[in-house]
Amino acid sequence: MLTEVTATRFVTPLREGGSLPGLVEADDLGLYVLKFTGAGQGRKTLVAEVVCGELARRLGFRVPRLVTVGLDPVLGLGEPERQVQDLLRASGGANLGMDFLSGALGYDPLAFAVDAQEAGRIVWFDALVNNVDRSWRNPNLLVQGGGLWLIDHGATMIWHHNWPSVDASAARPYGAADHALARFAPDVTAAAADLAPLVTEDLLAEVTAQIPDAWLADEPGFDTPDDLRRAYARPLLARAGTVHERIEGLKESK
Ligand SMILES: Nc1ncnc2c1ncn2[C@@H]1O[C@H](COP(=O)(O)OP(=O)(O)O)[C@@H](O)[C@H]1O
Ligand SMILES: [Mg+2]
Repeated sequence: MLTEVTATRFVTPLREGGSLPGLVEADDLGLYVLKFTGAGQGRKTLVAEVVCGELARRLGFRVPRLVTVGLDPVLGLGEPERQVQDLLRASGGANLGMDFLSGALGYDPLAFAVDAQEAGRIVWFDALVNNVDRSWRNPNLLVQGGGLWLIDHGATMIWHHNWPSVDASAARPYGAADHALARFAPDVTAAAADLAPLVTEDLLAEVTAQIPDAWLADEPGFDTPDDLRRAYARPLLARAGTVHERIEGLKESK
C-alpha cells in the first residue's frame, strides 16, 4: 500500500496541467502535488497514475514518490476561487499525492538531448501502458538533478474505460510519431530486451497491490478489488513481450 499522509494546508492550484492539480502541505511536513478524486477525469485517472508510476519506478525510471493524501474538505473554505473550492469539497477522503520536485523544469526537447537508449526505454514504457500524453506539445517529463522524471500517467491504459473490449483494445498498435522523444531515434528493441523480462506476474501483482481499494470498488463486472487488480495486470503482461513490434511512426526505430 502507498504511504498515507493527511493534508494540513492547501498551498496553491497548479495551473499548467489540464486537471488542475494542487500543491498541498501534509502532516509529515512534505509538499505534494495533489490529484483530486473529485476532478472531472474521475478516479480511474488516479488508478492509472498508481499502476504506471509504480511500474515505471520498478523498471528503473525516475518517478516522484506516490502517496495517498487524506483531505478534509474544510481546507477549502478559505479558498478564494470557486473552482478550487468545489474540487476540495468533492474530494474528501483519499486523493493521490506525489512528491513535489522543487526546482524541476518542464522538459524541452530542444534544450535537453536524450540518447537513443534512454529515449527507447521511455517510448517502450509508454507503448506498454499506451500512454497518449507524452507528446512534444505536452511532454509530461520534468528535468531535475540532471535527469528526466516521468509524471502524469492519467491518460494511459485506455482499455480500463471499457473492460469488455480489453483484449481488442490492448492488441492495437501504439502511435509514437508525436512522442516527445521520437526525434532521438529511440532504440525500442534494446529497451524491450532489457525491460520486458522484468514485467512479470509477480511484479504486476506487487504494483497493482498499491492501488487503494476505495478506487477499485463497484466496478461493473468485478466482484472484488483484487479481481480488478488482476484485470489491470493481464493486458500489461500480455503486451510486454511484443509491444515493441507494434510501435508505429518512429522513423529511425531499430
Ligand atoms: N511531482 C511534481 N513536481 C513538480 N511539479 C510537478 C509535479 N507534478 C506535476 N507538476 C507540475 O504540474 C503540472 C501538471 O501536472 P500533471 O501531472 O501533468 O497534471 P495534468 O493532468 O493536469 O496535466 C506539470 O506539467 C508540472 O509542471
Ligand atoms: Mg500533464
